[in-house]
Amino acid sequence: MEESKIIEILRILENISHIKDIDTLLEQVLFEARKIVNAEAGSVFLIKDNYLSFEYVQNDFLYGNYENSSDYMYTKKKIPVDNKSIAGYAALTKKSLIIDDVYNISPNNPYSFNRRFDKLSNYITKSVLTVPLINNREKVIGVFQIINPTDKNGNVISFTDDDSFLADLFAKQAVIAIEKAIMTREIILRMISIAELRDPQETGAHVNRVGAYSVEIYKNWAQKNGITDKIIKYNKDILRIAAMLHDVGKVAISDSILKKKGKLSENEYGKMKLHTIYGARLFSNSGSEWDDMAREITLNHHERWDGNGYPGYINDLNAKKIKFKNGKKGDQIPIYARIVALADVFDALMSQRWYKDPWPEQKVFNFILAESGKHFDPSVVESFIQVKERIISIWGKFS
Ligand SMILES: [Fe+2]
Ligand SMILES: [Fe+2]
Repeated sequence: MEESKIIEILRILENISHIKDIDTLLEQVLFEARKIVNAEAGSVFLIKDNYLSFEYVQNDFLYGNYENSSDYMYTKKKIPVDNKSIAGYAALTKKSLIIDDVYNISPNNPYSFNRRFDKLSNYITKSVLTVPLINNREKVIGVFQIINPTDKNGNVISFTDDDSFLADLFAKQAVIAIEKAIMTREIILRMISIAELRDPQETGAHVNRVGAYSVEIYKNWAQKNGITDKIIKYNKDILRIAAMLHDVGKVAISDSILKKKGKLSENEYGKMKLHTIYGARLFSNSGSEWDDMAREITLNHHERWDGNGYPGYINDLNAKKIKFKNGKKGDQIPIYARIVALADVFDALMSQRWYKDPWPEQKVFNFILAESGKHFDPSVVESFIQVKERIISIWGKFS
């Protein structure tokens, strides 16, 4: 056993223990687990309602190197926890499993390899190491699979017992971070479901999508603006959670306004606009980076690039009577709010709302392009268009 590998694992664990957002964390756990054994591909599942839900798949061979393109696929697939699949078998037996060639599994085994993904993608899976994620109450919370380790020349080799030992060691510690991040997400979702009880338009699926779109747009935008990979990784972790909370201030808006079916009067609309202020108040005291970003987003997600949005500059967020001024303009609006503004409008147009049917995808994209420089920051629109495919796959995953 190489001692340097164990030191490497300790370093990785230290890094991931700071990640608060569950999606960012799983993505990173999978990436690091693959890196330890130089594996070409991998996927991670979490157990939800007795199913293994496919959270991420990474494949350098198909999607390019993660560090460069941060590429992965959003997928909606789930499989039952039973011994018919390799991942299900590992979850049931709570044991890691090495398979040298998934196309030559002995028929004596209860599980078999599902060839569908290979067929769809023209990829050939061979060696697979499957590791259950077990918490300290001996409960399996998920499974990760690493696929096709390669040697220095890029040839696919087999996993060794040492690899399996290292992966188990890594998994044991990673579970602690994963459970913590799941709890954070649950608390946020509970906050959101309180807002959802008030405003039926703000569903869990909507906020999940707005969070995920925002991260994709930001990654592209930040790369183009010379922000380092390290800072991007850090910010996108906070951004997803903060973006999910964009409309949480609606908890303080009365039902007669939120649930009104029909045009709001001028007076009602004025009250509705206050949800930006109420949201910002929730995050006004703490001063952590997380609160700062959530405050910027709740306050500014209805500002427009051309200055025709709201609420404009507010001197005192806690004033009894809030007076709306002229909207902020251009890059006076914080970048995270410019991104969430687009993500939020995109999702509303794609969705069914009581006052409108979903728009066809092409019409939505045309509208966003037409609003570049008016409602939206042109550089954000440009990034949005460049990650269009991932935006559409997020729409598919959470709809
Ligand atoms: Fe809003
Ligand atoms: Fe929204």
